[in-house]
Amino acid sequence: MATILVLHGPNLNLLGTREPGIYGARNLGDVDRKLNELCRQAGHHFLSLQSNAEYELVERVQEASAEGVQFIILNPAAFTHTSIALRDALLAVAIPFIEVHVSNVHAREAFRQNSYFSDIAVGTITGLGTLGYELALTAAFEKLSQSSS
Ligand code: DQA
Repeated sequence: MATILVLHGPNLNLLGTREPGIYGARNLGDVDRKLNELCRQAGHHFLSLQSNAEYELVERVQEASAEGVQFIILNPAAFTHTSIALRDALLAVAIPFIEVHVSNVHAREAFRQNSYFSDIAVGTITGLGTLGYELALTAAFEKLSQSSS
């Protein structure tokens, strides 16, 4: 059994009502409930945090190391394009993570093309809606089973 932490960055608390044409109709509670259920079925422990504050995400990553979190699923939201602090936190703890974006950031504004996370992530999933979180979790299960065998 592993502990998996899902981190959602700023404005993702508004999923479901925020620009539904881009981000879809599913709210964050529904997304987390589904991820929790998938973790439970796979015998893993699920933790989640959404924050609009960069320092809270940085602190959560630092705590994750002490807690023995083995994998992180991260949607940094707008911090994707700005946060050296969050990148440094992930480098510091060296916990493997998958970067998820609900929308296809490559089909949007030029400033969304740059990510401070993609080059240090295990992988990235973008543009598949909130299903992307579930796909990332499936990949995390696979990676965890490879690393424990
Ligand atoms: C996002 C894409 C980001 O560019 C944006 O700032 C977000 C959400 C996504 O999930 O598609 O807030 O990370």
